Amino acid sequence: MDKVVSGTRPTGHLHLGNYFGAVKNFVEFQNQAECYFFVADYHSLTTHPNPENLHENVRIILSEYLACGLNPDECTVYVQSDVPEITELTLILNMFEHVGELERSTTYKDKIAKQQSNINAGLLTYPVLMASDIIIHHADKVPVGEDQRQHLEMARTFVNRFNHTFQVDYFKEPSAFSFDDELVRIPGLDGSTKMSKSAGEANTISLIEEEKSIRKKIMKAKTDSGPSEPNQEKPQEIKNLFQLMDIVSHKSTVSKFNEDYNKCQIRYGDMKKQLAEDMVAFTKPFKEKIEDIYHNEKLLKEVTQKGAAKAKESAQKTVQEVKEIIGIRPF
Ligand code: ADP
Ligand code: TRP
Repeated sequence: MDKVVSGTRPTGHLHLGNYFGAVKNFVEFQNQAECYFFVADYHSLTTHPNPENLHENVRIILSEYLACGLNPDECTVYVQSDVPEITELTLILNMFEHVGELERSTTYKDKIAKQQSNINAGLLTYPVLMASDIIIHHADKVPVGEDQRQHLEMARTFVNRFNHTFQVDYFKEPSAFSFDDELVRIPGLDGSTKMSKSAGEANTISLIEEEKSIRKKIMKAKTDSGPSEPNQEKPQEIKNLFQLMDIVSHKSTVSKFNEDYNKCQIRYGDMKKQLAEDMVAFTKPFKEKIEDIYHNEKLLKEVTQKGAAKAKESAQKTVQEVKEIIGIRPF
């Protein structure tokens, strides 16, 4: 049976990129694989959240994942810091990974460019902690968006290095996974190719976004002055609107606006109104469930306690075996 691990940092509300890139794929796996899902609270420390926000954000992410259909009876749901074996494995792996290799990671380079006043060692070793999250349960499939591809490549490098160094066939190579043919990358509303929390509010639509705000953001989304010739190639911001429509609207709606575009008859105002309508309908069922779960403290406590116990069982076994392999043995 496949083993599947995925996690997300508690840094705010889930947006459509998170949903279609990671959550939806994970939820689809639940009844056909051994699945582990966790909230990566240690990873979020790289940006120095304030202590009150951190706990609140873990609660938000858990409520939102459960509302998206993550079923604690079918998969193991836990908070990363409740399973300290993950950090123990990270410490061990850190001894074998090359600083130069970590420095060349594109996410590291992006991050240090963005947060120049806080270039901490946690940013450098982020991919090692992420690899530990995955290989501690011997996962082979990792449902994530396209932006995480390189982190998975690094995890494979670390696995191979460990196996080679100790002449064992212990860890399996994990890979990024999507049920679509390719890894998903949902675009932003500001014309950029990636919907992302760090790109600012106007770029994202979250699952709990108020109806009014959805309409306002979509009506403000970037567009051009319209096509001047039939069947013209679409500029990025228009491709983005069509891609968003593809995920929430009816096929016939998308075809209609595509035809209008190709005949140079498109009215972006009409297209945005329709997209906003479909987006409101798509997010509505999530909002109601999120509210309920968020206020159900008992449920959140039960889920995370049960999840931590199950995740620890699997993690302890791995750490014990790894220690044995590298020569840390009891008398
Ligand atoms: P953000 O970039 O908004 O901070 P995270 O880094 O917390 O989002 O990502 C959590 C998960 O959602 C990861 O698996 C990531 O690959 C996925 N994800 C984030 N943004 C997108 C996107 N625009 N398209 C597809 N997947 C995405
Ligand atoms: N790096 C991922 C992100 O930014 C979060 C993450 C941490 C993760 N550990 C993981 C995702 C393990 C999948 C598997 O979204």
